[in-house]
Amino acid sequence: MSQSTEAAALSSLSVPFRPGGVADGSASLAMSEDIARATQPQIENSVLEARDFCLWYGEKQALKNISMEVPEKQITAFIGPSGCGKSTLLRSINRLNDLVPSVRVDGDILFEGESVFGAEVDTNLLRKRVGMVFQKSNPFPKSIYENVAYGCRIQGISHRTELDEIVERSLRSSALWDEVKDRLDDVATGLSGGQQQRLCIARAIAVEPEVILFDEPCSALDPIATAKIEELMKELRHQYTQVIVTHNMQQASRISDFTAFLYLGELIEYGPTKSVFINPIRQQTEDYITGRFG
Ligand SMILES: Nc1ncnc2c1ncn2[C@@H]1O[C@H](COP(=O)(O)OP(=O)(O)O)[C@@H](O)[C@H]1O
Ligand SMILES: [Mg+2]
Repeated sequence: MSQSTEAAALSSLSVPFRPGGVADGSASLAMSEDIARATQPQIENSVLEARDFCLWYGEKQALKNISMEVPEKQITAFIGPSGCGKSTLLRSINRLNDLVPSVRVDGDILFEGESVFGAEVDTNLLRKRVGMVFQKSNPFPKSIYENVAYGCRIQGISHRTELDEIVERSLRSSALWDEVKDRLDDVATGLSGGQQQRLCIARAIAVEPEVILFDEPCSALDPIATAKIEELMKELRHQYTQVIVTHNMQQASRISDFTAFLYLGELIEYGPTKSVFINPIRQQTEDYITGRFG
């Protein structure tokens, strides 16, 4: 943690929360323990790890010394006010920010122990293993079937029976099969917004990723379609590692196991979702989740 970060952390700590108390005057030690607890929960089976990760767009620093681990086969939520760097952090994981020419990074992000920025990393393979679902559903102007089969075709799978199996399995997994099984050849853009978003999840699942990144997947959906996506994410919980960016705190508290709160490019607090929402350690987190800003 940088000195300025630490100073900000100390000044914003909520002092009363200190189980056991400190009688020997070692208050500063207790405080740094609190800071460590606030940003580094116990993660077993970490799949992703950011180490002092920084990112600049030109001169502007969007992420500041982010260090955190993401657990396997759980749902981790990134929350925080608009512009705090949630999408930037998410897109760094599968290197989508490479497409922005002014971007510069420092520190590292590891996927299963290997840097995603390594010279030998094949970004196509990385993006197959770490799939992504965006805020605005983006089916291709092709049939429902071809949308799901797309990634597999790129990988060279062309056998019809094999593709049929993959398409059915992916659409079943994304809770869409029953709604579309009789019209697989219809153009995908004719589906409702919620169905399109589940189709994008099916498309991501079809290539058998290990991680699925969701960037505000429900923000364009009505409450019923949103509930379906949340239900789906819960069903997929034990098959995939899922990371979701959301500015909807109720959503984060409903579906995630761990929550990371970002503010102005810094990771302010990270912990089990219940602790972050019920018993936040840092004042800034409490102010945000109680609606005092953002
Ligand atoms: N392509 C880009 N070029 C320049 N600045 C960007 C770009 N994308 C995001 N930013 C800036 O980086 C910061 C973090 O943005 P973002 O990650 O989109 O935040 P969030 O997803 O939390 O709303 C913001 O200040 C935003 O303006
Ligand atoms: Mg965003």
